[in-house]
Amino acid sequence: MAEIVGGIFTSHVPAIGGAIAKGLHQDPYWKPFFDGFHPVHSWLEEKKPDAAVVFYNDHGLNFFLDKMPTFAVGAAKSYRNSDEGWGLPPVKAFEGAPDLSWHIIETLVDAEFDVTTCQEMLVDHALTVPVQLCWPGTAAWPVRIVPIVVNTVQHPLPSPRRCLALGRAVARALESWGGDERIVVMGTGGLSHQLDGERAGFINQKYDRLCLDSLGPDPDALTAHSSLDIVELAGSQGIEVLNWIAARGAMGAGAREVSRNYHIPISNTAAATLLLERVEEAGQQSLAA
Ligand code: DHB
Ligand code: FE
Repeated sequence: MAEIVGGIFTSHVPAIGGAIAKGLHQDPYWKPFFDGFHPVHSWLEEKKPDAAVVFYNDHGLNFFLDKMPTFAVGAAKSYRNSDEGWGLPPVKAFEGAPDLSWHIIETLVDAEFDVTTCQEMLVDHALTVPVQLCWPGTAAWPVRIVPIVVNTVQHPLPSPRRCLALGRAVARALESWGGDERIVVMGTGGLSHQLDGERAGFINQKYDRLCLDSLGPDPDALTAHSSLDIVELAGSQGIEVLNWIAARGAMGAGAREVSRNYHIPISNTAAATLLLERVEEAGQQSLAA
């Protein structure tokens, strides 16, 4: 039986990839962000997942504004990264898990989520940076990947409620999967940020705190807002929190917080890392409890 071990939620700013390439982990600007990954590395060392289901948004590398699926699931044997113009060295290819991908796709379509299926797909910084953060310096990626792309880029955007429901349908797929993988779920992007327009540089610590506090014990609390509300509350790119909400759904009912880190600024963002471990019962126990 496959096992969902937990969820890792993190920022995906391209400049983090540049800092990794230059080895700036101890640099005073970067250290407070990278230090947030020490507990994640210890946890991954203990849990040793062999598959990762990654919820993220593509920023124009694979899907451009002319063709924008609301939800797309990768079903490829492998996924390549490519130059996006950020000056990042492209990272080595990721092995796919097409057998698991198709099981997820069949479960989703059966649950009336009409997803786009991608047997060829480039993966951008929103997948590569978080995977590099989790498994630094490995000669071969230790996890097979299922990429799930959420449109957080072009209106109309899916609602938080729909994203949580999509994630929960993915959880049912993972729970009914006959393989013996240990599966980690990832959600990338956020937290509050806006890259352009009059509100460029906008950050909302109060909304970010609500996200970090609610995601584990009460993700439904984050569905009280519409996507347009979240654009207003978190910025036009802060809406990437939809990826976190979907990923939280895919963890299943219960989540226990293992670690969190929140640091401003990384580039134009409030940067956050949250590690939730799956527990069988609903609700959340804090480490302190
Ligand atoms: C930045 C943030 C993002 O989420 C992104 O996709 C690209 C750039 C930034 O803050 O620089
Ligand atoms: Fe982004």
